[in-house]
Amino acid sequence: MNKKIAISGASGFVGRSVGRFLAETGYQTISLVRKNRANFGRTIISKDLAEKNLSRQLGGFLAFLHFIGTGRQTAEHDYETVNVGLTRNAISLCKRAGIRKIVYLSGLGVDKKSNLGYFISKFKAEQEIIRSGLDYTIFRPSYIMGRGDPLSKMLSDQIAAGSVVVPGSGKYRLQPILVHDVAQVVAKSIHGKHFSRKIIDLVGPQTVTYDRFVRDLVGKAKIRHVEFEQAYHEALVSRDSQFGVDDLSILVGDYVGSHRRLANISKMTFTGYREMLKACSLS
Ligand SMILES: NC(=O)c1ccc[n+]([C@@H]2O[C@H](COP(=O)([O-])OP(=O)(O)OC[C@H]3O[C@@H](n4cnc5c(N)ncnc54)[C@H](OP(=O)(O)O)[C@@H]3O)[C@@H](O)[C@H]2O)c1
Repeated sequence: MNKKIAISGASGFVGRSVGRFLAETGYQTISLVRKNRANFGRTIISKDLAEKNLSRQLGGFLAFLHFIGTGRQTAEHDYETVNVGLTRNAISLCKRAGIRKIVYLSGLGVDKKSNLGYFISKFKAEQEIIRSGLDYTIFRPSYIMGRGDPLSKMLSDQIAAGSVVVPGSGKYRLQPILVHDVAQVVAKSIHGKHFSRKIIDLVGPQTVTYDRFVRDLVGKAKIRHVEFEQAYHEALVSRDSQFGVDDLSILVGDYVGSHRRLANISKMTFTGYREMLKACSLS
């Protein structure tokens, strides 16, 4: 059986976890990263997935996991360039290399009608993939949790700075999912017929408010509710702000999805909320 998998964004939190899982379960991986080496499989340095020699090196690969993405744009790296442009490059690379399957991580809440720049870029990336003619699975994840995940990292930084900030009421919900479960689902999506040409919410078994979630995760650390206006202003004016403007928009968007559909398609039993918390870096 062909077990050759290419992974873009393999230096990121999800890419590292999925790549390691695949390598441990007998897949041959090539990681496409812009700097450093992945500590599993082979690594190729690529600036933008458009280098001419790449397709030869990936010829005959079974699938391409496209995990490059950004949730905070800057003048140098805006959403259009990174989330849409590099997805176009990934599709073109798949076609040149003869890779027929692409797996993409979009975002929970992405919708044609959204007016949030981040979601618009993810929607456009989804459309590029759907129109490409490649077989695809597009996942729309809520917060993916595990050792080193970006949300736990942000909360750790806030603890180190004296208190954990909950913007506004904290009553908006999320549906966190453990990265180890994500790795298993992604592996299944590479082969599984039920995953073919589908968009699937990648959400855990339980919804939880942000306020509850933070309390459960940070234990005895001090929690500080701040006015939403204050959190938003800091996000707007400072690049070092813990939350980006779009992080706040996604939080208050109160996005939840269908875990039942994910469980039905994958035929997996997912890690429960309490177990998931134990696996995160803070607990
Ligand atoms: N983690 C979550 O909870 C979550 C939730 C919803 C959706 N997602 C999506 O899942 C994907 C992976 O997320 P993650 O948590 O692993 O993110 P991450 O840790 O920030 O990793 C992002 C990856 O994309 C690469 N990248 C970013 N900008 C790039 C650019 N301009 N050129 C080339 N590579 C670039 C990064 O490379 P460097 O290491 O070189 O910076 C890194 O490998 C993203 O598309 C994200 O939007 C994640």
